[in-house]
Amino acid sequence: MAKISQKTIDLIKDTADIVDVVSEFVPLQVAGKNMKGLCPFHNEKTPSFFVSKERQIFNCFGCGEKGNAITFIQKYKHLSFVESLNYLADKYHISVELDQYREAQNTSKNLYKANDLASKFYTLNLLNLESGKPALEYLKNRGFDVNLIEEFQLGLAPNKYTGLFNQLKTEYQPLELLNAGLINRNDSGDYYDLFRNRIMFPIKDESGRIIAFSGRVFGDNENPAKYVNTPYTELFHKGTILYNISKALPHIKANNRAILMEGYFDVIKAAKFGVKEVVCSMGTQLTIDQALKIREYTENVLIIYDGDRAGREATFKALKLLERAKLNVKIVLMPEGLDPDDYMNKHNDFLYQVDNNQIDQYDFVYTMIIDNKDLTKPAEIESCKNRLFDFFTSTSGMIREIYLQKFAADALVSFDTLTKDYQKYLIDNRIMQDYQRIIKHQKEIRIVKPKYREAERTVLNYYLQDESYRKKVEDRFKLMEIHDKDIFFILETIRALKDQIGEKSPLVLLRSDLSEAFRTKLDDLLLRKNYEYDVEDFESCIKQLEIQKLEEEINNLNQKAKLCLNEDDQPGYIRYTTDAFALKSKIQKIGKG
Ligand code: UTP
Ligand code: MN
Repeated sequence: MAKISQKTIDLIKDTADIVDVVSEFVPLQVAGKNMKGLCPFHNEKTPSFFVSKERQIFNCFGCGEKGNAITFIQKYKHLSFVESLNYLADKYHISVELDQYREAQNTSKNLYKANDLASKFYTLNLLNLESGKPALEYLKNRGFDVNLIEEFQLGLAPNKYTGLFNQLKTEYQPLELLNAGLINRNDSGDYYDLFRNRIMFPIKDESGRIIAFSGRVFGDNENPAKYVNTPYTELFHKGTILYNISKALPHIKANNRAILMEGYFDVIKAAKFGVKEVVCSMGTQLTIDQALKIREYTENVLIIYDGDRAGREATFKALKLLERAKLNVKIVLMPEGLDPDDYMNKHNDFLYQVDNNQIDQYDFVYTMIIDNKDLTKPAEIESCKNRLFDFFTSTSGMIREIYLQKFAADALVSFDTLTKDYQKYLIDNRIMQDYQRIIKHQKEIRIVKPKYREAERTVLNYYLQDESYRKKVEDRFKLMEIHDKDIFFILETIRALKDQIGEKSPLVLLRSDLSEAFRTKLDDLLLRKNYEYDVEDFESCIKQLEIQKLEEEINNLNQKAKLCLNEDDQPGYIRYTTDAFALKSKIQKIGKG
């Protein structure tokens, strides 16, 4: 949890005048050096509630409540300390500064810097060192000259275990480099470079800061993975970044279109030939975040993926997604077996292709669906038909009609029958969707419905309800967290009496054992008479409390991990964060189960 900085707390204390704060809620009159009024914390007819401007405190001689401006708000508005601070900050227009926020800003600054230094190191290795020759040759042979290499800041990770680590370790703690995703740590506790003997592509955010790397194999490398990427870090979330976005942005705006390719080499080679509004999604399927990012700058996207089956399938998926983001999509198909980079190496009409051989997205989809299908076979007609329906439900009616007519003609079926089938498809689909929505909704309310306080109360009532629920609560009691002190006390009391319950009504038994004050509390806690007790509802409450307990344990572990960080105890940090991670997946399991 973010902490409010001491500076802010002091400022709030200095600014919030007790008389001003209290008199908003309690009318005060002058009484000598002090002010007095009717105490808001107990019932009284003559004022015994005093506020001292001089000492900035309040004090009730009737009920004994006392404190300062912050505790007054806490008590009067039933807020926590932090909530009260926020309330007062708001009242006096004080901006709240968080400790952790500053910390976080500093760590990210360090991570950017570390990536930047790493990039300079990699480029130096590629361009200036003898050992970089083979990689440089490889790039030159593929048509990437020194100018391009410098422009895109390509580099080389040396074929050493601690090349980068040795370079950066004087300036950085190992932990920072671990967090940047630049190094790893083995079982015996030694650090080693994540990228070795690879051609390095720096990945930048929109404003051009390096946030990650991707490294490609070349020549001999005992590790066969074609690319190794920076893992998920504070700066790098793969699905939200587009490679080359910072450079491409001005061109995307100027040309009012973005071109989407699959690989880094494609993007760089396109830039060489003057096509600069190009980005790529780095091997993974395009995400909606990426689509929306593009949408901020243009409505038009041109997809130029690899000329193979995988490339066409990826195009199909990407355009469905881009459509959902309300983008106009066109496609340029590469000949079988060539990616854009290959095409530019072999042909000199890439620019012409880009501007003159664009396929309309719907034509592309239609062709994809009926491609290689034998439309004389009923089963194949049926399967194509369903895929068409599936895609064209989300288009306009006019576009749908055009393509259904085309399909009727190609498959030699009547357009009438096809439209009737489409109506039936819609109804089936609607029923399916409704059904799924209901299931999903039920699941959601099962998990989210009772806030854990309410769940605690409900569990208590189930415990009083009948023997089988009592047994279930007993079985899982240790896994739950009960916060409400009253509920906890009442539950403990009745649990202690559980052997005596037998014939007797548990409520009667409980009442006779509780003090007057708790009896009243118990009455407040009972659910209404016609409450519908059922197993699912019960399970959801129990789950909620189990999750609550795990969440608190996770918080605890994270606190401990943070302490380790401060003491540079890396094994400790790793142990605590790993444990926390395990508990998180436990929560997910409970949520799904
Ligand atoms: P490609 O296999 O087409 O690689 O993957 P490429 O970059 O075009 O390289 P060449 O032309 O075959 O030499 C396309 C993109 O998919 C991602 C990379 O972003 C790559 O540029 N990718 C691919 C990975 O992230 N990991 C992989 O193992 C493979
Ligand atoms: Mn490729």
